[in-house]
Amino acid sequence: MNFNLPVLAPSILAADFSRLGDQISECTDHGIQWIHCDIMDGHFVPNISFGPGMVKTVRSLTPEAFLDVHLMMENPDLFIDDFADAGADLISVHYETCPHLHRTIQNIKENGCMTGVVINPATSVDLLVPILVDVDLVLIMTVNPGFGGQAFIESSYDKIVQLTALRDQLQLSFLIEVDGGVGTKNAKKLVSKGVDVLVAGSSVFKADNIPNAITTLEKAARSGSNTVA
Ligand code: DX5
Ligand code: ZN
Repeated sequence: MNFNLPVLAPSILAADFSRLGDQISECTDHGIQWIHCDIMDGHFVPNISFGPGMVKTVRSLTPEAFLDVHLMMENPDLFIDDFADAGADLISVHYETCPHLHRTIQNIKENGCMTGVVINPATSVDLLVPILVDVDLVLIMTVNPGFGGQAFIESSYDKIVQLTALRDQLQLSFLIEVDGGVGTKNAKKLVSKGVDVLVAGSSVFKADNIPNAITTLEKAARSGSNTVA
C-alpha cells in the first residue's frame, strides 16, 4: 500500500467507544487511511485496552483503512494469528517482549501482515540494528506505553535522528513511526527529523472538532517535510 507521507494515524485508544463508528467515519471521511490500534495486556503495560474483537469491529467499520496493530503485550506470538485474522494489515511488537524477535517477525510475515518493531523510551535504537533489514516499520515510543494523553518525551528526537541515519547508512526503507504525545506543537519538528507516521490519539479524538483537528495536524506535519532536520 502506498501512502502520501507523512501519514497521520489516529489511535482509537482515545476514541469514544460508544460512538466508535461515527468517530472513525469522521476520520476516514476526512482522508484518514491509517488507523492505529493500541493493544494492552495489563502485564507489559499497566493498563488493559482491547483485543482482536475490537480490531475485527474496526475492520468491519472501515474495510478500506490500513489497520496498524501495536501489541503492548507479553508473549505476542500467542496472538499474532488472531490479530491477523481480525484484519490487521501491520502488526508491531515490542523489542522488550520478544526474546526471539527474528522468529516473531517471521511469524507476522507468515500471517500475511506487514511487520513493525517498537522500542520504549529507555531502549536504544542500536539494539534494533540486527532486525532492521526484516521490518517494514520501526515505532519509537515517545511516551511510556500504557496510557493516552501523556506528555511527549523530548529526548525522542535524538532517537529519531539516529534511526533515520541508520536507515540511510543501511540503505533500507522501513517507515519511522512515533506514538504518544503527538500534536500540533511537535508534528512539524517530528517530520523534519524523519518521522513518516504520526500516531495521534488525544489530539484527534479529544478535540472539539475531529475533522478540524485532522486538518491542522496534517498541515503541521506536512510543513515539516520541506524543512532541514
Ligand atoms: C501509549 C499509547 C498512546 C496512544 C496515543 O501506550 O500507545 O501513545 O497511542 O496517545 P496520545 O496521542 O493521546 O498521547
Ligand atoms: Zn500505539
